[in-house]
Amino acid sequence: MLTAAFSAAAVGISSPSGELTLNVDVDAQGRPFYSLDYKGTQVITPSLLGLTSDETDYTRGFSIASVDTVTVDRSWEPVWGEYATVRDHFKELAVNLAENPIAAGEDPAQASKQPGRTMTVRFRLFDDGLGFRYEFPVQPRNNYLTVRGENTEFNFTGDHTLYCIPGDYDTDEYLFSETTFSGLPDALNNYGRHTEAQRTGGTTIQTPMLLKTADATPLYISLHEAALAGYPAMLLDVDTEAKGMKAHLVPDRLGVSAYLQLPFATPWRTVIVSDDARDILASQLVLNLNEPCAIEDTSWIKPMKFVGVWWEMFTGNQKTWAYSDDYLAKPGVTDYTTLTPNGRHPANTENVKKYIDFASKHGIEGVLVEGWNEGWEDWASYRKNRQFLFDKPYPDFDVDELREYAKSKGVKLIMHHETAANAADYERQLDRAFQFMKDNNYDAVKTGYVGAIIPRSEHHTSQWMVDHARHVIERAADYQIMIDSHEAPRPTGLCRTYPNWLAQESARGGEFESMGGNPPSHTCILPFTRLKGGPMDYTPGLFETRMSYYNEGKTGQAGTTLARQLALYLTMPSPMQMACDLPENYERFPDAFQFIEDVPVDWSDSRYLEAEPNHYITVARRDKHSEDWYVGAITDDKARTALIDFSFLPKGEKFEATIYEDAPDADWKDNPQAYRIRTVKVDSKTKLKQPLAPGGGAAMRIVKK
Ligand code: NOJ
Ligand code: CA
Repeated sequence: MLTAAFSAAAVGISSPSGELTLNVDVDAQGRPFYSLDYKGTQVITPSLLGLTSDETDYTRGFSIASVDTVTVDRSWEPVWGEYATVRDHFKELAVNLAENPIAAGEDPAQASKQPGRTMTVRFRLFDDGLGFRYEFPVQPRNNYLTVRGENTEFNFTGDHTLYCIPGDYDTDEYLFSETTFSGLPDALNNYGRHTEAQRTGGTTIQTPMLLKTADATPLYISLHEAALAGYPAMLLDVDTEAKGMKAHLVPDRLGVSAYLQLPFATPWRTVIVSDDARDILASQLVLNLNEPCAIEDTSWIKPMKFVGVWWEMFTGNQKTWAYSDDYLAKPGVTDYTTLTPNGRHPANTENVKKYIDFASKHGIEGVLVEGWNEGWEDWASYRKNRQFLFDKPYPDFDVDELREYAKSKGVKLIMHHETAANAADYERQLDRAFQFMKDNNYDAVKTGYVGAIIPRSEHHTSQWMVDHARHVIERAADYQIMIDSHEAPRPTGLCRTYPNWLAQESARGGEFESMGGNPPSHTCILPFTRLKGGPMDYTPGLFETRMSYYNEGKTGQAGTTLARQLALYLTMPSPMQMACDLPENYERFPDAFQFIEDVPVDWSDSRYLEAEPNHYITVARRDKHSEDWYVGAITDDKARTALIDFSFLPKGEKFEATIYEDAPDADWKDNPQAYRIRTVKVDSKTKLKQPLAPGGGAAMRIVKK
């Protein structure tokens, strides 16, 4: 960790508003470092920069050769999202570093490992935070790097509160810890196996993560990265004594993090900062640091809601993705028509038609079907080839009949590609798989990567898989296919460049309600953390929350009231939004389901009204295609009164709000399905006290009268 002071040669800039200040310098060993202030308070104390590779050392021996500064103020229009227009306003400082002459006493073999080397650190300072990246121009000698790590540090001023999940190269499906630097080792010990922190005995965490200072007016600081491409994901090694963090690049199995050919620019390291928690939620900094849309004609990209043959397999009712249980008994069987159906396979023609009927009746655009194709038995078998065939439906899934049936009902089937992490094989099948989709009228696919990556036991977030994800999304765009990826490298705003990447899972989703449950606080922290990278396929809309309802033997319960599930459509915005429950459960509560029918998935404006990480979020959003507004409010496991100030409404206009709220005796634990629906007249002067039950929420549809 760095202990250096800025010299007279330091360079710096302020953000457009002047509230953020950045300083950059090199120390006596020629090591570049930076610091960040917000409203005159230090946010990041002097912190090192640089990158280490086998061939060239980019951490020391530099001096500042020149700087370039520019102010940029422009806007862009996302294909979908929380806002119709996004302002991209920043001051940029490019610090061009060049190799120092060898100092007296320095080992020349080390100091001039690559004579003449140069590196630019490009900083963009916005009013809501900082982004910076390393750029390596073509070098005089070596242009191939075997990257071992980064020196990038984020040093803080005190024992802040951290909201984070354990470091792990393969999964981010964890509950968040709320701890401090000093409490982190204990917090990480509470997670089971699988964590990198546990494997190394270290204190490694993942981004996106959030910090909160202990000041009277606390600062909220979000750390992540933007535009992750051609490079591994960044974890953070935490120094719990010094209160600092250092980049930890995900390595491959050989311990190498990245193989680069220069010129190359790394992803942006991002720091969003504010003394108002709502600003963290509203920030578009990560998207702003991504490249503009790479797809010329985006007319085929359509935000949607969907239902799916999915929750049936999670309820503990013994339903399976696989068609048969036979396979284990008959190794070598390849003709699936010879297998005995197990009778517990919901991805069958008749059942899928029921979902299509339901979707059609309620104006839901899509129907996802999981378990439709050959391969699930192979995955379960001892052979573990983990090979799925993406153009081979099971005998009881009639592709032709369903294609025509869905068409006749005005519904789109959504493809499912579980790869079981056999990414290499998926690449081999990709064109055939996408062509099969097009031939059968599918234009969206949910992909999945459960298990250890094939080949080479690569990690889910290493460079190879980051490249794989981009290859798949670009190829999908060629076929005009939209993607919702599960178990892929967590999002870093690439959906701006590839808006056909509608959603990702990349966090602990709603499915865990059947596997231990998600406490109400979980969805009060995800928007501050995971969602800073992009929308999540969280799968809201669970109306039947008690697992014993599905199966007497099964215990457990979702950490939510029914009304809160409706609010999640606002607090967890996504252009691809599931209504996850069984159609029969929606038929039991048709008046509540009306909200899911009505709620849009694309917005022209968003206003965060109240927010505190892990505790509550209240947000208002305006429909992209009408003048209607919607409000969602959620709380943790404590009852709360949300204060909703309707000044976001246009002045002088009358609106009517339909409020879906927890009944007075509702409670996520004992009375989750107690809700009420009422209507009230509202205008821009209305201030409403909206009660929320423990683990509860409220959802509102606000229509102009
Ligand atoms: C894990 C995914 O998150 C889940 O949504 C999916 O149903 C299963 N894998 C099976 O592919
Ligand atoms: Ca998953």
